[in-house]
Amino acid sequence: MTHQTAHPATPSGTGLHGSIAVPGDKSISHRALILGALCVGETVVHGLLEGEDVLATAQALRAYGAEIERGADGVWRINGLGIGGLLAPGKVLDLGNSGTGARLLLGLAASHGLTSVFTGDASLRQRPMQRVITPLQQMGARFEAADGERLPITVVGSNSLLPIEYRLPVASAQIKSAVLLAGLNAPGVTTVIEPRPCRDHTEHLLRHFGAQIMVDDDHDGGRRIALTGWPELRPQTVRVPGDPSSAAFPIAAALLVPGSDVTINGVGLNPLRAALLDTLRDMGVQITYLNRRQDQGEPIADLCVRHGQLRGIEVPPERAPAMIDEYPILAILAAFAKGPTVMRGIGELRVKESDRIAAMAKGLSALGVVVEELEDGLIVQGHDGPAPAKAGVCIDTKMDHRIAMSFLIYGLGARAPVRVAGCEMIETSFPGFAELMTGLGARIENV
Ligand code: S3P
Repeated sequence: MTHQTAHPATPSGTGLHGSIAVPGDKSISHRALILGALCVGETVVHGLLEGEDVLATAQALRAYGAEIERGADGVWRINGLGIGGLLAPGKVLDLGNSGTGARLLLGLAASHGLTSVFTGDASLRQRPMQRVITPLQQMGARFEAADGERLPITVVGSNSLLPIEYRLPVASAQIKSAVLLAGLNAPGVTTVIEPRPCRDHTEHLLRHFGAQIMVDDDHDGGRRIALTGWPELRPQTVRVPGDPSSAAFPIAAALLVPGSDVTINGVGLNPLRAALLDTLRDMGVQITYLNRRQDQGEPIADLCVRHGQLRGIEVPPERAPAMIDEYPILAILAAFAKGPTVMRGIGELRVKESDRIAAMAKGLSALGVVVEELEDGLIVQGHDGPAPAKAGVCIDTKMDHRIAMSFLIYGLGARAPVRVAGCEMIETSFPGFAELMTGLGARIENV
């Protein structure tokens, strides 16, 4: 297990400075590979995230017969097999730490008349899979799962799935995407109803590849997404924007470290992903957006962030789906804010790569922050400036990349260094994180 220590970045008081780009969007990267594998002909992907999660999806798609290569120029090329064209994988598919890879590929496996076996690392093997098994069973696939609903899972798929209308029990883009991907190889219209809009990269990319997909408002703020099965997908070029969930870490670092002035170029700002920025505005800091543009249906901008003093707020719970992965780093920012920050309606955080509510509550209180853990939320008492870092504490990141990065950022702004165990997990989503932060002037050391 790798340990890293993050130190208050700037004993000299000059802060973090520079202009950077973060790696490509993880959600879009998985989906670009998957849709490329479902087209006959060559799909070209620029800016693919080369983190372990996405590489695990690429490996699984190769096992299904897709040709996937990275050129020396960093551009990825996929030669796919067409909808219904995947081959029997002939080996166990190990998705590592990736819930997105596992759940989306379960949808794909369900819609092919072959048997697939999925597994993952110790964290992924704990995560609930019934949420995708239920609709895929209704469509006609068969499953055998450890403990009824955990990986390893055997899927017996079918080439003649039934299209269904499925109301998501939770606002989850992974469940929505698993059903839509299965619906590609079903006749007629597969409909997913989401209680609250959640990230819509699957819908954007399906349209980009030529599928017919209709999105309508449902009552109470929900949405109906209707996909016509058996589309003729055509290979495409995909340009992956910078991941807003990765950008959240240098943004937070710049906000916490006095004197900082950092620009993060080319960040994807899909409104169903970027609600952290609205929350930061409500907390009283200003982030400047430069070069706002649209690329392939995704809004993008360069973000300029300076050190700022935050005030605690009550985060509107209805915002949760649009910033679901950003609560760990928000909880860190809350510890430096003036007054309490209340985060509710985030019960889904308990079934991410770790129980993120418990991991944040435990880590923050070990460092000396007053935290109240709620069943579906967290209340963090802020310090109105540098937060404490009790000596001798080592944060346990519970195999969770976002917990690891969050506490390293805490260490950059805290009163004393913070030691974090399990930093190798950062490779799943943000390869080069420590180097990038060091380039801005942070001190992150392997210990
Ligand atoms: C993702 C959806 C979200 C998010 C995850 C990526 C996706 O999960 O937390 O990091 O790419 O579809 P849920 O669908 O479980 O909310």
